[in-house]
Amino acid sequence: METEDMEITVSPVHGRFVAEITGVDLSEPLDDHRFTSIHDTFLEYSILVFRGQTLSNEQHIAFSRRFGELEIHPAKHWLLPDSPEILVLSNRGENGTRPIVNGGAYWHSDMTYMAKPPLGSLLYAIKVPPEGGDTLYTDMYKAYETLDEQLKRRIAGLEVIHRYGDRYQKMSSEDKDRPPLTPEQLAEVPDVVHPAVRTHPETGRKALFVNEGFTIGVVGMPKDESAALLEKLFRHSVQPAHIYRHRWQAGDLVMWDNRCTMHRATEYDLRHDRAMHRTTIQGDRPV
Ligand code: OGA
Ligand code: MN
Repeated sequence: METEDMEITVSPVHGRFVAEITGVDLSEPLDDHRFTSIHDTFLEYSILVFRGQTLSNEQHIAFSRRFGELEIHPAKHWLLPDSPEILVLSNRGENGTRPIVNGGAYWHSDMTYMAKPPLGSLLYAIKVPPEGGDTLYTDMYKAYETLDEQLKRRIAGLEVIHRYGDRYQKMSSEDKDRPPLTPEQLAEVPDVVHPAVRTHPETGRKALFVNEGFTIGVVGMPKDESAALLEKLFRHSVQPAHIYRHRWQAGDLVMWDNRCTMHRATEYDLRHDRAMHRTTIQGDRPV
């Protein structure tokens, strides 16, 4: 059957947070009608799962580009030399990229240390271990909505600082495969300030926008008080009931909205290969 004749089907996987989309072959160009229905579903759910895909680098990039310009990550040693839009998360490396064994093993939203953090990321599984190496996702709309009123009032209008260097250099000091960022690379990622609660530019919904990975303090708040408040918000955000666990199969592509979700990697037996490719879509300044 020609792909154009196939019906796109949306199946909720985890309430109004994750949907699996079937009936679409992402290696082929999508007409505007089909793209619009995927885009609408993305805004409605925040996380889309596509299974059984076979994508070249060019096809992965082409689908991602439908959503916007792509980001080039500051840690250049993880980027495919011929396609720097693709970040390789592989415990063996690929085509000269550095292996990653502990990438994203803490709750975060991608690259929130940028003045304009990415809109979303698309992670494509090439090789997965027989067990473990799942990715956890949590819903930051829900995190905001379930705060008590007093805490909502306390964080209204607060600004927080995001930084890449601390997280990266700490992990670099513990991992021989992770070279320290060069001064030039660090200069690409100065501290940035974002609101603690952001309004999603497309859905208009409010989401909590602080993360354990990169949020290092509250602007104008004493250090201890700031650390305690952030810790409380981090813990609130990752309640088991709000979490979706993605168990990867090779050929899965998962697309998430970085503006209203967080994710983290989990462990697996490093004797097995795990290789994933990520593209990252540029976003707006959070407000
Ligand atoms: C990412 C990420 C987690 C994982 O691709 O941004 O954090 O499980 N990945 O590989
Ligand atoms: Mn990530």
